[in-house]
Amino acid sequence: MSDKKIALVTGANKGIGYEIAAGLGALGWSVGVGARDQTRRDAAVARLRDAGVDAFGVPLDVTDDRSVAAAADLIAEHAGRLDALVNNAGITGGGAQQPSSVDPAVIRTVLETNVIGVIRVTNAMLPLLGRSASPRIVNMSSSVGSLTRQSGPDGETTTGPVAVAYAPSKSFLNAVTLQYARELADTKILINCACPGFVATDLNGFRGVRTPQEGAATAIRLATLPDGGPTGGFFEDAGVVPW
Ligand SMILES: NC(=O)c1ccc[n+]([C@@H]2O[C@H](COP(=O)([O-])OP(=O)(O)OC[C@H]3O[C@@H](n4cnc5c(N)ncnc54)[C@H](OP(=O)(O)O)[C@@H]3O)[C@@H](O)[C@H]2O)c1
Repeated sequence: MSDKKIALVTGANKGIGYEIAAGLGALGWSVGVGARDQTRRDAAVARLRDAGVDAFGVPLDVTDDRSVAAAADLIAEHAGRLDALVNNAGITGGGAQQPSSVDPAVIRTVLETNVIGVIRVTNAMLPLLGRSASPRIVNMSSSVGSLTRQSGPDGETTTGPVAVAYAPSKSFLNAVTLQYARELADTKILINCACPGFVATDLNGFRGVRTPQEGAATAIRLATLPDGGPTGGFFEDAGVVPW
């Protein structure tokens, strides 16, 4: 088994996930580029390798049990363990998401990726994380999932528009993260949520104001936490995000 740290980043073919992979690679990690589309995955791996990153492709659709199981097998064979899992893949569900008119199918689709996908991938990777000396899990959340900010007087300015599929999916993810933190409290695993800020990516039609590199910073910090670091927390660049 290599001494090099091994990470898996889901949805790493573009946007914030790609920059998390690049950032961990720059720190000397070997990075599994989790991506569901072969062409996009191969292109990202090639670009990362050109930048000097020890990157390897991991076919991965977080909504598909067999794909996730195969990804765990691939990492077991490639590296024998996992030091950091970054659950970054996510979708908004698109379109208008007013509670009074939303199509329930949109909510199911968003939850399948943003919440159940994270649980599916995490559970498949736990045995590999258990073989690490300092395992870390980072769940890419969003401050739109903060109930405190949603209910504040300046709701829209701090958490974005009303979106009954996307925003609650991140609240759900935060709650799920706490359940894992409680179950894993007696293990070496540290598990936390990251908010990247409002980042210019495909997810929001590139309307965000931060670069994907800036958006990757908190997740990279949480993936590389020292032993004794926080677990069951929710962080952005400026510090703790209120639940
Ligand atoms: N951008 C922001 O302002 C912002 C703010 C807060 C939180 N976030 C969160 O940050 C994360 C990354 O978002 P981003 O802005 O970088 O968006 P993005 O550019 O749209 O990237 C999303 C990534 O997730 C992948 N993905 C989606 N569904 C998947 C599935 N079923 N299986 C595997 N991969 C899947 C996409 O792959 P394909 O290319 O195959 O679609 C893509 O690689 C998300 O969880 C998002 O909710 C973003």
